Amino acid sequence: MRIDTTRFPHRKVVWLEKTESTMLDAAGHPPGTVVVADQQTAGQGRQGHRWHSEPGTGLYFSTVESPPCTAQHLPVATLALGIAVQEAIRDVAGIGCDIRWPNDLLIGSKKCAGILATTHGDCVIAGIGINVNQRQFTDGLSDIATSLRIESGQEHDREELLAASLRKIDFYLKLLSEEGPDSVLRLFAQASSYVYGRRVCVDTAEASITGVTDGLDASGFLYIRTVGGERRLIRNGGVRPV
Ligand code: BTN
Repeated sequence: MRIDTTRFPHRKVVWLEKTESTMLDAAGHPPGTVVVADQQTAGQGRQGHRWHSEPGTGLYFSTVESPPCTAQHLPVATLALGIAVQEAIRDVAGIGCDIRWPNDLLIGSKKCAGILATTHGDCVIAGIGINVNQRQFTDGLSDIATSLRIESGQEHDREELLAASLRKIDFYLKLLSEEGPDSVLRLFAQASSYVYGRRVCVDTAEASITGVTDGLDASGFLYIRTVGGERRLIRNGGVRPV
């Protein structure tokens, strides 16, 4: 896989055929670095899950983002990354995805892309996995995962998707650093059907909370209005529709 790096003068792209996880490779590289792998043997997902990363079909990459995209902005940056990937998929594959808070890209009810954002020193490491040309998934995954190939019936160019994702990531992280979180929060509420009025369940460390989604707070966390009328702020975990 190769892209025209002259279009990204501030980026250095490191291409790997096979690695454990691009999250590990990216850590310690200077801001602007993008590590892309054709295959990951221990791809990391959110909440300790694995990210299935077979060779030659998916797009797996991590970018190193510099301050002011720092830890304090991590939750909103995560939302900005979701919008970026949603738009890249729309532009390259012509497929409209929903975003399940905080950043699962869905086609129908199945996931086609995921985002893992962590901090390393002063930097944010943004890990993106997109199911591009997989023709099928194994039994355990086929109910919850899909690919752009499965949904559209045609193959898509991973390099083009990488270039489009980098363009959009640059755009939305710049928007965040120049205009602050509000603009990203507003755009996310338009881009995701999960911000308002969805009946969901979320498992926290203490309990399972069921309610209806009721907007985002200033940091990008999600409010849920419970059956008892209480407005609870969800900081961690993922929501699932009920
Ligand atoms: C999720 O659980 O939805 C997040 C998945 C993130 C997967 C990507 S693939 C590239 C990068 N390297 C990893 O090990 N994980 C992220």
